[in-house]
Order: sequence, then C-alpha cells, then structure tokens
Amino acid sequence: MKLSRRDFIKLGALTAATAVLPTRAWALMDNGGDFNLDPRDPGGFSSPLFKPGFNGGLLGFFEPRGPFMINATQGSANILPGKESDLLIYQLADGAKGYINPILKVKKGQRLNPVLKNSLSQQATIIHWHGLIVDGKNDGGPADGISSGETYQYDFTVRNRAGTYWYHPHPFGFTSEQAYKGLASFFLVEDDDEIRLRRSLGLKLGENDIPLVIQDKRFDEMGNLMYEPDENEWFMGFLGDTILANLTVKPYLNVIPQVYRFRVLNGSNARIYRLAFLKGAEKAAYYIIGNDGGFLDKPYRTNEAFIAPGERMDILLDLRNFRPGDELFLKSLPFDPMDNEEMTEPMAEPMAAEPSMGLDNGEEFYILKLNVKKSTGCQPSHHQRIPGVLSCIVPTDMSDAMMREITLSQADMQWFINGQKFDFNQFPIEVSRNTVEIWDIMNDMMSMPHPMHIHGFQFQVLERMVMEGAMENPGMDLAVDEMGRLPTDLGWKDTVLIWPGEKVKIAIDFSHNFQGEQRYVFHCHNLEHEDMGMMVNYRVA
Ligand code: C2O
Ligand code: CU
Ligand code: CU
Repeated sequence: MKLSRRDFIKLGALTAATAVLPTRAWALMDNGGDFNLDPRDPGGFSSPLFKPGFNGGLLGFFEPRGPFMINATQGSANILPGKESDLLIYQLADGAKGYINPILKVKKGQRLNPVLKNSLSQQATIIHWHGLIVDGKNDGGPADGISSGETYQYDFTVRNRAGTYWYHPHPFGFTSEQAYKGLASFFLVEDDDEIRLRRSLGLKLGENDIPLVIQDKRFDEMGNLMYEPDENEWFMGFLGDTILANLTVKPYLNVIPQVYRFRVLNGSNARIYRLAFLKGAEKAAYYIIGNDGGFLDKPYRTNEAFIAPGERMDILLDLRNFRPGDELFLKSLPFDPMDNEEMTEPMAEPMAAEPSMGLDNGEEFYILKLNVKKSTGCQPSHHQRIPGVLSCIVPTDMSDAMMREITLSQADMQWFINGQKFDFNQFPIEVSRNTVEIWDIMNDMMSMPHPMHIHGFQFQVLERMVMEGAMENPGMDLAVDEMGRLPTDLGWKDTVLIWPGEKVKIAIDFSHNFQGEQRYVFHCHNLEHEDMGMMVNYRVA
C-alpha cells in the first residue's frame, strides 16, 4: 500500500505534530524549464542545502530528555523540482515539534530509552545504532526485526566518545531497500573534547557545524525513488545517478570567511566518494578531525579523502582566506573503482542499450557548491586557531592479542566471508570477552572494494598492505605513515574500506561488562552485499 501525501499529513496529525517536510523554493517556481540534475555538470546548483535546525522538521536536532518513540513509516518530500517523492521516514513527535529523521543529539553517559514502532506496511524492520557500543539486544541487528505494527524497546547507556554516529534499519534482507528509501539519520554524541573544540572555533550546530549526509539515488519520472536492483546490481551494489546532500539535489550553501565543520556521512548503499573541495581546478586544503569513532588525536591536513558507505568523516574547512565572490565545489574526484568487471562477464547478457544516464562508481561529479559571501555582523574569528590537539587515542594493548584471519571473496555472483554466506543460526566467530583480537582481513584480488563493518565495538586500524602480486589501489597515495594508513584510518573506526588485493589489520578490544553472551554481526556495508549475505554472526561469550 502506498500512502498519498494527504494520508501522510493525516498520519502526522495523529502524532500530535504536523511534521511538514520543507518545500524547496525551486519546487514552487514552476518555470516549466528543464532542471539540470546531472551531477557531472557544475551548472544548476540552485537549491539551498537543507540545514538541520532546532525547530524539528527534517533532520531536526532532537535532544532526548526521557523515553521517546520513533515511528518508521511512509512519507514523502519535495526532492525533485515540482515533484513529490515517496519515502520511508523515521517520525518523532515531541510536544508541538514534529521530526522527520531526527538527528539525535546526546551526551556521553546518557541513558536512552527509545521505542521503535514499525508502521511500515509490510516489511519487518529494526533500528541499528551504527557505531554505538551497546549490548547485543540494544544493537538492533538482523535477529531482532519486528513485524509491521510491533514495537521494540531499547534501553542503553551511551558509552561512546563524542562523534558522528548514525542509525538506520537492519532487518534481515531488507536493510538496503529501507535505507535507500530514506530511513537513516545521525546520532551525535557530545563529551568534553567536543565542547572544547566547539568553543575554540565558535562552532554552532546547524550554522557552521553541519551534518552532511551524501547519497546517490535513482528517480522515476514521477519523482519516486526507484529501487529494483537486477542480478548484477545485487552483486556490485546499487548506484544512483542523482546525488543528494541532506536530501537536496544540486545544493548550494552560502558561506562567509570563517571555519566550517562538516560531519560527512556516506549514507549511500554502494557508492564510494573521493571528496575534495575545489576552487576552479585547485584543491583547497581541509582538515580531517574525526571519523567513525570520534576525534582523531589532532587535525590532519589534506586535500582529498575516500569515504565508503557507512563511514563518517568530520572535517574543518577554513574559509578565512577566501573572498566574497569565490566559489568552491565539494566534488567526488575520479578514481579507479577496482570493480573487476571480468567477475560479472560470464553472466552478462548482451546489455540492452539502456537510455539511463548512469553514474559509475569512480566517476567524477559535483556534490555541493559553496558561495562565499561577505560576512554581515562582526568580523568572525580571525584570531581563532585550528587546535593542535583534539583528543587522546590510547593504542589498544595487543600484548595478549589473538589473531584471526578473515577472507573476502566471490564466486558465481555471490560474496563470501571466510568462504561462507550469512547463516542466521550459525556463529562462526566466537570471541571471549575481555580479550583483544587482531583481525587480518584479506580481500581477494578478484574482488571489489568492501567497506567492512563491525557491530557493538569500535576498532583501531593497525596496517594496510597490498598483497603480493596484487594491483595498487587508489587509496595508497594518501597514506600518512609507514603502516600504510590514511588519515581516515586513524583513531577509532567501525567501518573500514578494503580494496581488492589488500590486507587490512585491525585490533578489536572485546572488553565489556554486559551480562552474559552478546550476539552481533560483522558485514560489508555495501548494503546490497549485506542483504545478499556478506555478513557473519559473531558472539562474545
Ligand atoms: Cu550501518 Cu550493520 O550497519
Ligand atoms: Cu553498525
Ligand atoms: Cu561488499
């Protein structure tokens, strides 16, 4: 059953808050013109980037002060000019405020009691808190899906460091479709490090500290999201041809000469981005200050970085040396996606000449335009300095660590972890609590890049290496240490991209004080791969 916008508004009213999605200005300007949605074209960046705010609405910041309910349901929004797109949304009502895909903003140490209600018409669902250190029952994995009409009660304490975490569905077999259709948002944790940084740079959430979720989607003529992967797309991952940032297509952001923080989430199912800010042909420097598990020890100056599905990257862009009138683009630079097309050849039927414009992984395109304006008000922050220290990363003690080998491979259009597909009832990986393990994750040469993600814990990346005889990969040039690590590998991680022919060593400390045995999953965050079974149960006993 599909709900019309009218039904959706009714649903909104039922929750005591009319959750109205923002209507974008250009959606109202029915100028009958052709809208330029092609991300390869720098023209047409004319819709204001949707910025989260404190008054509810889409991606509104929500600071829980007691139990709350998140309702997974159908909705719609103006994404394409003059069109309503059906979406799946997380809806939340707080007094008079209604939220769509609320950004949860919590403090380290805070206890949370969310209830999920499944109001999707058919499918099971469950919320997974991506990156959070929680017990198995609060993790929201595939074993805990609830049917339509049911609710799921969570109760956990936030143990994580300050950082940009997120939440999304994780039902067995339907994660990719539900996340693609709109179910996803941020989960921001604050602690003292966070407050210190914000003070020192005058960062204000929603103003110069902007959560930015980047996604690729495919729309039909009606403006609805299309999600019907064919066999090849299940195998390679589903790519969209339209790029959205905070659900805005071809967005621009007016900025002034000050420091901006972007908390980037790659919320795409399968697309990897190589992010750079360009002024003309020149890459602008930016600082990577954090990733999946919060702050790095210090800012790392760079001018490009890869971000794979599920990963987060916290960055500072210092615009103080830019002038009013300057224009910058956040782009994805071209790269070799290493997707070994030969893998699919035996199956490939003669490709019907598809009129679809298509946007390959690794293609170059524009994401967001920044227009530098004169600052009104007083001259901002010329004395402020990018801090030299952000946080303290304690290296995991590996003196008693156990080694475990993990292989990623494919055969017959299927992906495998240690030669196996996901089996709901098997726990091939058993870990003893309070031990440290080093996982040696090897991606076959005849493979594609896989962003591997673990539930329940954060890990440290120890080393990247290219296996003998394997091809070099596009990440290598960005290494900052002799272990082959990139700035995006430092600090704490929950998702790590592994290129074909690459071996990545990670250290995971399975210490916890949850009661009894805890069950989680480890999987590829290419969501089609996950749903196809590139996932494994593990338990910590
Ligand atoms: Cu964000 Cu198991 O996933
Ligand atoms: Cu996760
Ligand atoms: Cu994968």
